[in-house]
Formats: sequence, C-alpha cells, structure tokens
Amino acid sequence: MEGCESDGGDEGSWAKPIFKGLSPMRTRAMRTVVYKVDPEHPNPEVIRASAQVLRGGGLVAFPTETVYGLGALASDPRAVLRVFEVKRRPPDNPLILHICEVDQLFELANRVPEDALKLAEKFWPGPLTLVLSKSPRVIKEVTGGLEKVAVRMPAHPVALALVKEVGEPIAAPSANISGRPSPTEAQHVIEDLYGLVEVIIDAGETVHGLESTIIDMTTDPPTLLRPGALPVDAVEAALGRRVAIPGFARGLGEAEAALAPGTKYRHYAPRAPMVVVESSDYGDLSRVVAAVSELAREKMAEGLRVCILCTEETKPAYSGLQAITLCLGSRGEVFSIARRLFKVLREADATGCEFIVAEGLEERGLGLAIMNRLRKASGFRIVRI
Ligand code: TXA
Ligand code: MG
Repeated sequence: MEGCESDGGDEGSWAKPIFKGLSPMRTRAMRTVVYKVDPEHPNPEVIRASAQVLRGGGLVAFPTETVYGLGALASDPRAVLRVFEVKRRPPDNPLILHICEVDQLFELANRVPEDALKLAEKFWPGPLTLVLSKSPRVIKEVTGGLEKVAVRMPAHPVALALVKEVGEPIAAPSANISGRPSPTEAQHVIEDLYGLVEVIIDAGETVHGLESTIIDMTTDPPTLLRPGALPVDAVEAALGRRVAIPGFARGLGEAEAALAPGTKYRHYAPRAPMVVVESSDYGDLSRVVAAVSELAREKMAEGLRVCILCTEETKPAYSGLQAITLCLGSRGEVFSIARRLFKVLREADATGCEFIVAEGLEERGLGLAIMNRLRKASGFRIVRI
C-alpha cells in the first residue's frame, strides 16, 4: 500500500517499524515514524525529536496513563485544526490541554477556584481533567469556541517529558478516529492513524485503559462531565462535598452541547450494533445470563454472527451457545475490566461479528465510567431487566 512503509533505517536504533493491521479505508500519504520507548525511562532523543515535530506544527501520538493521545502544539491553530481533520472529529468538540506543572494552569484559566487548585494539588499528575473559565491566551480552535477550557497533567513519564520538552501545553484528544474505541496500545493508534500523523510513540499498554475523569469547576457544586479513571468518590472525598452527576455523565443520553460537547456523539463504538443488558440486581447473575442468552439466540436465529461481552463469572454459562464470547475480566476486579474494555471492543470488531450483546456491571466506583462507555458504545441501546 502506498505511503504505508514504516521508517526505521534512517531514524536511529530507537525507530522501529510496525506494519500490522493497517486499515485501507483512507489515503495515508504521510510518512509516519514509530518510536518504541521504555515507558518509565523514555529515550531523551525520541522526546527531543518528537517535541521538535510538535513545535514545527506536526502531530505526535503519545502514551498517557489513561489512553494514547494525539498531540498538537496548543498555540498553533493550524496544527490544532489538523487534529480535528485527522481524527474526523466535529470542530465543536474541544480538546484537553496537557501541562506538566500546576503553574501553567494560571496561564490557561481566567480564574482558578480554590477547589480546583485543591484537586490539582491532590490528583496531578493523574487522570483528572479540570474544566475552568478560559484565559484569552487559549485559542478558539482548542475550545471549539467555548469560553471554558479543559486542562490536565498526565502521569505518564513519556507525556510529562514531552510537554516539558515542548515548553508549552499540548492539546491532545484520544488518538483514535472519532467514534472508535480509544487506543490503549500503540497498535490501536497505528490501526487508526498510521500515515496520517508524523510520529507515534509506542510505550506499550496504558495503565488505566479509560480516559480521565472530567469535572467542570465553574459550576457550584462542581459537575462531573465524564466519569473516568479517577473514581468520582475520590474527588468528593478530597473536596469534602458532593459533585453533581448528571444523567449524561452516566451515559444515559446526551447533554446540551455547551455543557458537555462530547456527549452528543456516538463514542467508543465497535463496528457492529451493540446492546447492553443492565440488571437491577447483579447479585443474581443468572438473570443477566438468561437475558443475554435470549437476545443472542434471537439474533443468531436471524442469521447474524453474535459476540457476547461477558465476565469471568458468567463465561461458562454461555458455552452451549454458538456465539463468540469475549471476557472483560472478573466482576471483582473492575480495575482490570476498565483496563481491558477498549481493547475488547476492538477485538469484537476483529471477530467479524455482526451483533454484540454486552453484560452490564454495577455502577459503583470505576463501574460508573465503565457503564458510561458501554452505554455510549451501544448508542444507548439498553435492555433493562
Ligand atoms: O484521558 C484523557 O482525558 C485523554 C488523554 C489523551 O489525555 N484525552 C481524551 O480526550 O480523552 P478526548 O478529546 O478524547 O476527550 C475529551 C473530552 C471530550 O468529551 C470533550 O468534549 C471534553 O473532553 N472537553 C474538552 N474541552 C472541554 C470544555 N472546554 N468543556 C467541556 N468539555 C470539554
Ligand atoms: Mg476521545
């Protein structure tokens, strides 16, 4: 395929060619360099070269502790617009700014409420994004014209080193084509963006596998815009007060665009249609299994290849069905379910299935973020039992 060769020979020993899984859907005319680095101790040469690409207006996909991001220099309108173009992202869905020191927050926000500073000091670097009133320095291309800006300090050594080396904030959405599951390993980024961006930094699997928790600090009480890798109870405990959790943050529908612009688009979606089976009582999993099996049989009777997203506790119960089963992990270990979720959604695609039935989970702790992603991935097709 034209333009899909990886570089390697002339980029030094840290440049490693990777070819697997390229999608032929688009013209991928650009020369993409894939650098493989140690996640804890990234090669400074790679960081320097990547920072130079960013400063020159290029795009660099890099790992964070949540998911891989697609970075552009936040002050460069052309580079930022290219992020939207490459991801095929609607221009009114703003980007998160990534910083490496709390002080940078004061340059990006008009006002930093005390509670916002408290959260930044407690949870940064880490998977928490704060939405604040924006300073005039933040260009409109980043915020999609909104008067608010989203900022976070990632905990990944590669992300931190990159922001530091660039010397100013990096605007970065997740490094996937809009609507697809977020990338939790470099191979996912390669599938979506190879030949469309200058650099992909491969540091292996991300730690959390789910994006950051987003809190709007301009409201009183603060509002959860997106549940994520940091459970909202931890935020509430740090603040000593409640955070408002609107229905859209649970993945139960869309919000007004101005409030949470990302919610109106189908997200995290595998290619096949998907339904989530939600129970009022996960203590009795036999009801979940019965409902999932019934739905799977119904779809198989229509001649469709069905994939069931199950858990360790329920997997054996589907062995009699002709469906493909993919296991998310144990219900007792939600952290590992969160970590695997996007990868499993991509795996479901790879099976070539035509319909997906997913089991729901309890909405506690990380379960809130997992259910948000599952509901959105299903396009809100929910069966309640
Ligand atoms: O963990 C993460 O947050 C990852 C890594 C790469 O940092 N980033 C990420 O970015 O998930 P993205 O663009 O895929 O999701 C950002 C979400 C979108 O839903 C967007 O609408 C919302 O943040 N957002 C960004 N700026 C906002 C703003 N000013 N007001 C409200 N929501 C905002
Ligand atoms: Mg995203």
